[in-house]
Amino acid sequence: MFKWKDSYSVGVEEINKQHKKLFELGKELYELIELDDEYDHFDEIMNILDELKDYTHYHFKSEEDLLTKHGYETLQFKLHRLEHKSFIHKMDSFNEKSIDFEQKDSVLKMLSFIENWISHHILETDMSYKEFFSKLPIT
Ligand SMILES: [Fe+2]
Ligand SMILES: [Fe+2]
Repeated sequence: MFKWKDSYSVGVEEINKQHKKLFELGKELYELIELDDEYDHFDEIMNILDELKDYTHYHFKSEEDLLTKHGYETLQFKLHRLEHKSFIHKMDSFNEKSIDFEQKDSVLKMLSFIENWISHHILETDMSYKEFFSKLPIT
């Protein structure tokens, strides 16, 4: 789960770095839930989840700023921003209440949604600016 692959490269080093960090945080959460020891990891889970939420905010903003800075003002970009917004909304719905009960199952379900969303978003939506940046002299 949460393995970054070369096929996820959007050709912009800083963005690749941020995507990798998202995968790392997801992996950290997955490894924690898979520990299956006798300890309750609720606080740690919430901490990493908060970090993942914060980093997602940061990444979306920096991706959008970069695209705006380079004049990528297309209809596609508007839709792209909407996708970010709806994911943030979804992430916000993962809260203490949704995790406390049946911890492992609920976190695994949430992680599988997050992994699916992120990889699809990178491969389909983020990938659409790869060509645009490849034609710019400096990114
Ligand atoms: Fe994006
Ligand atoms: Fe992205």
